[in-house]
Amino acid sequence: MDAERRDRKRIKGFFPFLDGGRVLVIDDEEMIRDACAQALRKEGCVVETAEDGETGLEALESFSPDLVLVDLKMPGMSGLDVLEEIEKTDPTVVKIVLTGFATIASAVDAMKKGTYDFITKPSTPDEIRAVVDRGLEKRHLILESEALKIAQERIRRNMISLVSHELRAPLAATVQYLEIILGGMAGQVSKEATEMIDRSNQRLREMLDLIGRWLNLATFDPLRMAEYFEALHLADLMEESVAILDPVAKKRNIQIIMESPEDLPSIQGSQVALKEVFNNLISNAIKYNRDGGWVKVTLLEDGEEIRIEVCDNGIGISEEHVSRIFDEFYRVDGRRNAPVKGSGLGLSIVRTLVNAHGGSIALESKVGEGSTFTVRIPKRPKESMGTSHVSVQ
Ligand SMILES: Nc1ncnc2c1ncn2[C@@H]1O[C@H](COP(=O)(O)OP(=O)(O)OP(=O)(O)O)[C@@H](O)[C@H]1O
Ligand SMILES: [Mg+2]
Repeated sequence: MDAERRDRKRIKGFFPFLDGGRVLVIDDEEMIRDACAQALRKEGCVVETAEDGETGLEALESFSPDLVLVDLKMPGMSGLDVLEEIEKTDPTVVKIVLTGFATIASAVDAMKKGTYDFITKPSTPDEIRAVVDRGLEKRHLILESEALKIAQERIRRNMISLVSHELRAPLAATVQYLEIILGGMAGQVSKEATEMIDRSNQRLREMLDLIGRWLNLATFDPLRMAEYFEALHLADLMEESVAILDPVAKKRNIQIIMESPEDLPSIQGSQVALKEVFNNLISNAIKYNRDGGWVKVTLLEDGEEIRIEVCDNGIGISEEHVSRIFDEFYRVDGRRNAPVKGSGLGLSIVRTLVNAHGGSIALESKVGEGSTFTVRIPKRPKESMGTSHVSVQ
C-alpha cells in the first residue's frame, strides 16, 4: 500500500498497522492506561499495561511488545530512564512518549534520544490510534530491514565459503600443476607451449591474489587486529612505502615528495595494516597520475590524531564517483579494457583498516587537477575499541 493511500485511509479512521500489533502502555494514571488500551484494542491491538517503570520493564521481557507508550512523569523510575532501558534492551522496539503540556520540554529531550513520536494528554481515541499506527508501521520497516541485513549476511557467508573452497582451492591446485610442467618435471614441452603456460600461470596467480585480498577483507575482524597493535613511527612506515613505490613512479617521471616533522609522536597501530593503507594510497596516486606529475605525502600531528595526507596532481575524480569510491570493486573506469588495471578493492581495504584503528578517511578531488586523501588515526586507540565491534562501513 503506498504512503499516500495509507494516509488517506488513516484520515477516514482506518489504521492498517494496529491489527495484531503488540503495545505496552506504561503510565501511573489508570484513566490514561484504560483510554489507550480501549482505543487500541478496538482496532485489534494486543495491549498490556503497567503502572510504573519497573513493572513496565518486566513486561518488556515477558510481553515482547512492538511499541511502548511511556508516560514521562511517573513516581519512582522516570519516563526518560525507562526509555533509556528499553533502548538498551531492544532498540528495535518503537518508543512513543505520553506527555502533558507541562512536560513538553522533556518530550523533546526524549525525541532526541531515539523516541519516535509523542502523544499529548488528553488526546482523542483517533489521535492515539493515528500516532500508534504510524509507530507500528515504523516497527514493520525496522523488522524488514533487520531481516534484510540477516539475509545479506547469510549470502555473504555463503559467498565466502564458495570463493574460498570452490574457487580458490582448484585454482591453487592448477597453479601447482602448471609450475610442475614449467619446471620440466613432466617431460619436454615446446618453447611456444612453455610461453603460453607461463602466461596462464601468471594470470591464475593474479586471480588467486585478488581472491586472497577479497577474502581477507570479507572475513576481517577489527577486534582481532587490535591484538596486534604496537608503538609505530608512521614516518618510518611511510618511508618504506615510498621506497617500494618510487621505482614505479620514476618509470613515469613522477616525483614523490614526503614531509614529516622530526618530532612526530608514535602511535598505537598495526604495522602490517598501516603499510597496506600507505601502499594502496601512494600506489593509486601514481597509477592515476599523469607522466611527469607529483605525489606529496604529509604527516602531521593534529591534537589527539595524526593526519596523513596523500595528495597528487593526477587525473582527479568527479563528484558523482566520490561517494562510491570506497565501495568494494568500484572503479571510475569500470571497463574490462580500462587503460589502468586494477580490481577496485584497494580503497575499501584502506577504509576498513583505517576504521579498525578508530580513524577516518576523507577525499577531496577535482577532475584534471588532482586528489587529496586525508587519513586521521588516533594516537591511542579509543577506549571502546577492543570491547565492541568497530564499524566497517
Ligand atoms: N589518487 C587517485 N586519483 C584518481 N582516481 C583515483 C585515485 N585513487 C583511486 N582512484 C579511483 O578510485 C578507484 C578505486 O580505487 P581502488 O584503489 O579501490 O581500486 P583500483 O586501484 O582500481 O584497484 P586495486 O587497488 O584493487 O588494484 C580507481 O579505480 C580509480 O578510478
Ligand atoms: Mg588501488
